[in-house]
Amino acid sequence: MSEATSICPTTPQRLRELYLPIRDEIEEVEAILREELRSDHPFVDRLVQHGFRLGGKRLRPALLLLSGKACGKVTREHIVLAAVMEMIHTASLIHDDVLDDAILRRHLRTVNAQWDNEASVLLGDYLFARSMCLASALESKYASRAISEATGRMCEGELRQVGSRGNFQLSESEYLEIIAGKTAAIYACCCRLGAYHAGAEPEVRESFGRFGDAFGIAFQIIDDVLDLQGSEAVAGKSLGTDLNKQKPTLPIIRLLSQLDRQQRAEVESILRCGDDHRAEALRPWLQRYDAISYARQIAMRYVRRAQQELDAVPCTPERENLRHLADFVILRDQ
Ligand code: IPE
Ligand code: IPE
Ligand code: MG
Ligand code: MG
Repeated sequence: MSEATSICPTTPQRLRELYLPIRDEIEEVEAILREELRSDHPFVDRLVQHGFRLGGKRLRPALLLLSGKACGKVTREHIVLAAVMEMIHTASLIHDDVLDDAILRRHLRTVNAQWDNEASVLLGDYLFARSMCLASALESKYASRAISEATGRMCEGELRQVGSRGNFQLSESEYLEIIAGKTAAIYACCCRLGAYHAGAEPEVRESFGRFGDAFGIAFQIIDDVLDLQGSEAVAGKSLGTDLNKQKPTLPIIRLLSQLDRQQRAEVESILRCGDDHRAEALRPWLQRYDAISYARQIAMRYVRRAQQELDAVPCTPERENLRHLADFVILRDQ
């Protein structure tokens, strides 16, 4: 299959294929990002450019545009909103890298590593503000409301996660609630906006919203698996930060739930120690209790749930690509 877009040299080939129906629109999104993300002040300009250099996988714009096309059309509003959602996502990554003390993002040094936390906090805020400026210039207020609501849920999820650091009693359902907020709310918002701006009926819009929700939960579960056993060179970002920051993620929660009191104390002492070999020490435990495959199974369940939501939507190439994107979430290594 031919090259789908020139969006980013590190975008996996499979995504390039799945983005084919929206190739031109993704290019327009990139043009808006290039246009919006510059400043007359050289220092600010350097920071903003750094935040967007190389780019990411562009999954959120892709879901928004494919949802629009699956509902019949892609308008100028879709293009603008796809850029807005990517700006919000990038802002959240810049802030998240401060929370996680990460040094690598999108194959580059993080803003906090290259400059400092102060620059990161302000750059993230700047991107949030610029994105809301773009969204609020649209005639309909639906998008601004939906985006503000989703961004609030994302921040609440991140805050809940900060509050649960070192809490290895966290239950699986609390974990799922946290990731539904911090990651899935933004995906759900993208899908809902795609459907809404294509004129879809409210029930169709809600099907797309539920698709995005389940997609996002599966996406974060796999992200948490990759944090334990992925490759930084492939992922292009710092891994192992969940352990460093003592964030209880699904494989760990699953492992702990199967242990007796003494084993639990042993594993908790590994989790709480500041040792660089923590991941290695945990590996045999995770393996013995099938904790990684359990997490993958739960992610798969959410992928199926997402795909079922699409059954209610007319069959089009775009709908099928949304289905394949959900499969990609499980297979991805970046
Ligand atoms: C990373 O998102 C943050 C999470 C929600 C886990 P992506 O994996 O979509 O990041 P980019 O945009 O491709 O860099
Ligand atoms: C952060 O989750 C998700 C956001 C809402 C930004 P992670 O901390 O797992 O994301 P990565 O692994 O750093 O990309
Ligand atoms: Mg992080
Ligand atoms: Mg992660």
